[in-house]
Amino acid sequence: MAKLTQKDFLKGTIKHIDMKKYNVVPMVEAFENMAYSSRDLARASKIYHQMLSDKNCSIILCIAGSLISAGLKKIIVDMIQNKMVDAIVSNGANIVDQDFFEALGYKHYLGTPHNADDNLLRDLHIDRIYDTYINEDELKVCDETVHKICNSLEPRPYSSREFIWEMGKWLEKNKKGKDSVVYNAYKYGVPVFVPAFSDCSAGFGFVAHQTENPTAHVTIDSAKDFLELTKIKIKAKETGLMMFSGGVPKNFAQDTVVAAEILGADAPMHKYAVQITVADERDGALSGSTLKEASSWGKVSTALEQMVYGECTTLIPLIIGYGYHKGAWKKRKAANYVKFLQDEDKKVAALKAKQNKAKK
Ligand SMILES: NC(=O)c1ccc[n+]([C@@H]2O[C@H](COP(=O)([O-])OP(=O)(O)OC[C@H]3O[C@@H](n4cnc5c(N)ncnc54)[C@H](O)[C@@H]3O)[C@@H](O)[C@H]2O)c1
Repeated sequence: MAKLTQKDFLKGTIKHIDMKKYNVVPMVEAFENMAYSSRDLARASKIYHQMLSDKNCSIILCIAGSLISAGLKKIIVDMIQNKMVDAIVSNGANIVDQDFFEALGYKHYLGTPHNADDNLLRDLHIDRIYDTYINEDELKVCDETVHKICNSLEPRPYSSREFIWEMGKWLEKNKKGKDSVVYNAYKYGVPVFVPAFSDCSAGFGFVAHQTENPTAHVTIDSAKDFLELTKIKIKAKETGLMMFSGGVPKNFAQDTVVAAEILGADAPMHKYAVQITVADERDGALSGSTLKEASSWGKVSTALEQMVYGECTTLIPLIIGYGYHKGAWKKRKAANYVKFLQDEDKKVAALKAKQNKAKK
């Protein structure tokens, strides 16, 4: 038998679902009169529609798991382009290994979880995410591109939001990734935060960059990320959280209420909150902790919250699709929190310049 090669495995590609094509409104509304998960999903969809209809509410999207590689990229891009989200908090895997990776021109491939020979995949440089394959040689180009972007920047601490903005700028300059989250967030002024930024392909680029430049290099300041997101919370006042999966992004966004309180600001609990997850609450961990539980910590208001238990690839097109087809986003204004944060940075730079002048 002929020896198998990468080409034998990397054939059919993952295609990103286009929620605009499917009007799910009648089905989601029919779910309201059913039971269990269907009714939970209908309520979650209505809460998202309420967030979009509320002129005073800023929407923070939280993403964990591997959702971009699974075909959900276009939904997130459509949310950005149609003012259905004002800030994003994600894990690094979605933003760098999956979205930026595809922006460089690479694809995710249809694989199989059941009879995959993972040793053979290893030999062929193919990585597997459940039923999805990735060409590991291409992923290395993604690490290397982050490395190059690091080398091109002034050595100093950056929030992940600032660094991801630079990644968007790089895509624009290199005419790549017009359909990516990173590029569209850059273009539409939606800040993207990745609080654990080194825990993905970007980490390899950073390790190489800092090794080559031991005394002066780019670093990621995750405390600045938290301060920036807290500033958004304080400016927005009313906020809604749309949480896909759970993980670090869920807690990071929820905690801005507590941080704002520490700063003495008048910032209410998150008014709306929806989480879609397979995690349950029995282990006491963050991902499965209910939104009612979060209210005991003063983070989420209990009136308009909904957990939906299930896997994201099937539920997100229904919940976000409902919000899209109901159309409340047409009346929303773009918050452009990137501009707001850049103006805040300018104020800090002016203060620094004044202090330096005074020292001389
Ligand atoms: N394949 C990968 O997920 C991958 C790849 C590279 C790096 N990483 C890094 O690993 C770290 C941890 O990953 P994480 O933040 O995704 O946390 P995680 O894997 O713990 O997931 C968070 C929670 O979301 C739930 N969840 C995940 N996918 C879901 C889905 N499709 N539907 C419903 N629920 C879902 C999980 O069950 C879990 O409870 C991150 O820093 C990330 O960048 C992950």
